[in-house]
Amino acid sequence: MTTRREFLAKFGTAAAALTVLPGFAFAADSPVATHAISVLPPLPYAPDALEPFIDAQTMSLHHDKHHQAYVTNLVKAVGSDPKLSAMSVEELVSNLDAVPADMRTAVRNQGGGHANHSLFWPSLKKNNGAVPKAELAAAMDKAFSNYAGFQAQFTKAATGVFGSGWAWLVLEPAGTLKVMALANQDSPLSQGLKPLFGIDVWEHAYYLKYQNRRPEYIQAFYNVINWDFVTERYLDLRKA
Ligand SMILES: [Fe+2]
Repeated sequence: MTTRREFLAKFGTAAAALTVLPGFAFAADSPVATHAISVLPPLPYAPDALEPFIDAQTMSLHHDKHHQAYVTNLVKAVGSDPKLSAMSVEELVSNLDAVPADMRTAVRNQGGGHANHSLFWPSLKKNNGAVPKAELAAAMDKAFSNYAGFQAQFTKAATGVFGSGWAWLVLEPAGTLKVMALANQDSPLSQGLKPLFGIDVWEHAYYLKYQNRRPEYIQAFYNVINWDFVTERYLDLRKA
């Protein structure tokens, strides 16, 4: 287990950089941007940009109310600790063991919610039926045989989440791709994995349009994966 002291030593430089440049350790539009705990990143398109697959009202409520609530509650939880407050939310959820015990559950839930949604928005774009290309396609072929194999695993993972959670495509330390499901707002970062993108299967992500028909939402979701963003993120994280 990493001690808090080791955690702060490890991230001291990053924290200092974030103090100078609050908000992002990378340019805000970088596919590997990290996010300050207190900042709700703007929705990078209009709320109706994903119609008819995800409706404008859902997008507005999801971003403006639900994501904002994770940010607000995370600030309440760690705002009194200047060193933790200066770190990115991705650093915090990557090192839960090093967060003081009385803040850990809040960082896991609220920080996870902030980190997960901060990746969710830029990974969405109407793709007009596009599928992964180039290096990402090759990695997916290796892991899942082909794109259909990926879809089958991802659909199964997203459908099988009991209650609220996410299904993820992650990059493992060995450089291989894997599909996984996690409950609530747990982040793959907390398991040492690098999330490429995820599907939010909390009811707040789809209930206004799809009601109880989660499988329909999951099928529609394949039309709004921003493969250009995911491919760039894959290439950048593979180098990291
Ligand atoms: Fe959500």
